[in-house]
Formats: sequence, structure tokens, C-alpha cells
Amino acid sequence: MLSRRIQAIRPFFKQSLLFNARRMATEANVSTTASKPEAPEEKLKTFEIYRWNPERPDLKPKLQKYQVNLKNCGPMVLDALNQIKNEQDPTLTFRRSCREGICGSCAMNINGSNTLACLCHIKTDEKPTKIYPLPHCFVIKDLVPDLTYFYKQYKAIEPWLQNNNIPKGKELYQSREDREKLDGLYECILCACCSTSCPSYWWNAEEYLGPAVLMQAYRWIIDSRDQSTPRRLAAMQNSMSVYRCHTIMNCARTCPKGLNPGLAIAKLKALMATS
Ligand code: SF4
Ligand code: SF4
Ligand code: FES
Repeated sequence: MLSRRIQAIRPFFKQSLLFNARRMATEANVSTTASKPEAPEEKLKTFEIYRWNPERPDLKPKLQKYQVNLKNCGPMVLDALNQIKNEQDPTLTFRRSCREGICGSCAMNINGSNTLACLCHIKTDEKPTKIYPLPHCFVIKDLVPDLTYFYKQYKAIEPWLQNNNIPKGKELYQSREDREKLDGLYECILCACCSTSCPSYWWNAEEYLGPAVLMQAYRWIIDSRDQSTPRRLAAMQNSMSVYRCHTIMNCARTCPKGLNPGLAIAKLKALMATS
């Protein structure tokens, strides 16, 4: 009796199993489609980057094209450079460290302006972004300029506090007003964007100190705690160290930290004229 009943319901059972299986398959299919992450839409940007390898002196420098999907990349030019180096071409060479505009090492020429790659937004237009090393410098490799001479000039101005009367174990205070005079000067990160954008520096780099170094010279000259002001000023009393500045102001236009070395040089000249 029971077996007959079972036999009787078997076709319905089979049908029900089949129906359930189909429903589960459909649901599985729907849920697979729903949970599948959507492929990020592509927004390709072309970067044309200066390449030169000192180990292949037989090859001329060239611009090499790379494409980066901006949907998978951070917003800054340094993000794109890192992505190219990590995912496309490990031989691409550039300096970087802090990635937040503090160390000054990622200075380069991007679309015709000297700036920091980590503070420079990628333009989302169709035009390729062109990247060169800082202009008028010897190139060590690809985007790495040789800044040896720039640092020698910086060292030449003796960029440290000179005071023989600092009480041992005590801080040397200055008034609030004197401290405020250093604002707009001490923030310089010595990236060299300004000096390498200055036409006077391009043509007289061996003698003219250039905007970055002159602004730092001025910073120490006006520090109320420093005792070497007359000596510092006397060292620059010649026709080249300071007076090659013709107030073209490329330096202030390009500074990625918003500083104004041209203004500091003008104040320095005024001080030298009256000292
Ligand atoms: S003044 Fe500006 S551009 Fe020049 S070295 Fe300093 S931070 Fe760089
Ligand atoms: S203002 Fe002076 S230092 Fe600045 S870019 Fe012009 S010439 Fe060079
Ligand atoms: S990485 Fe340090 S200033 Fe750009």
C-alpha cells in the first residue's frame, strides 16, 4: 500500500526536485550576478616621460609613453609615477620620499612648470601629461637631476645660527615679532623648483646664488639671534651673487609651497644697499 503511494507521488516528487533545482540555479545565478564586483570603468591617461640611461650613452634621451587607468590610481602625478614603476616599468627612475610636499625630493617639470609631483593633481583632460627632470641641470638618470652644485651653494651661505653667546644648556629666545619676520622664509623645503626656473640662474649658475639659496641667506641675515649679519652681507657684496636677479619673478610663480623668493631677494638688496 505504502509502496504504491510512494510510486504514485514519485513523478510529483521528481518534478518538485527538478523545479527546486532550477529555482536554486536561477537564484544562484541572480545572486552571483548581483554580488559580482563591477569592473571599474577605464579612464586612460597618457604620460610622456623623459628617459635617459647613463649606462647606455649610445642612446639619445627620449620621451616614453605610458598609459595609466585613472580609475585605479591616486589623484597626484606621483601616484601615476609610482603605478608605472610598480606595475609597468621598474626601470623608471625618480626621487620621492614623503609624498606630502615636505621633503622636496619629487621636484620635476610637469607640463612645463617646475613643481612637486606629490602636490600636482593629474589633469583629467585628453592631453598627455609631459614630465621632464628639473631644467638646466645635469641629469643623473631619467627624472633625477644632479643637485650637487645647488647644495654646494647652499652650504656656502653657512645656513645655521651663528652666535657665540648662547648660554650653555639654555634656549636662545627671540621676541614674537622677531620670530614672525622668519615666516614665509623658514618653510622652504629646498626643492630647487625656483632656482631651476630662474633664467638668471640658468646662465650664471656658477656665480649667481639663485632664489632658493638667496632666500635662505636672507632668512639667516634677518634672524635676530644671529651675530654674523655684517659678515654674511659682506660675502655677497659683488656683482654676481645677488645682483644677477632681475626681478623676473619666475621663482615666485613656480614655488610649490607658495613662497616668494623674489621678494626676499628684493629685501636683501635693500639691506645690502644700506649696510
Ligand atoms: S622657495 Fe619654494 S621653490 Fe624655492 S626651493 Fe624653497 S620651496 Fe622650493
Ligand atoms: S625674481 Fe630673481 S631669482 Fe626670481 S626668477 Fe627672477 S631673476 Fe630669478
Ligand atoms: S615626495 Fe616629498 S615633496 Fe614630494
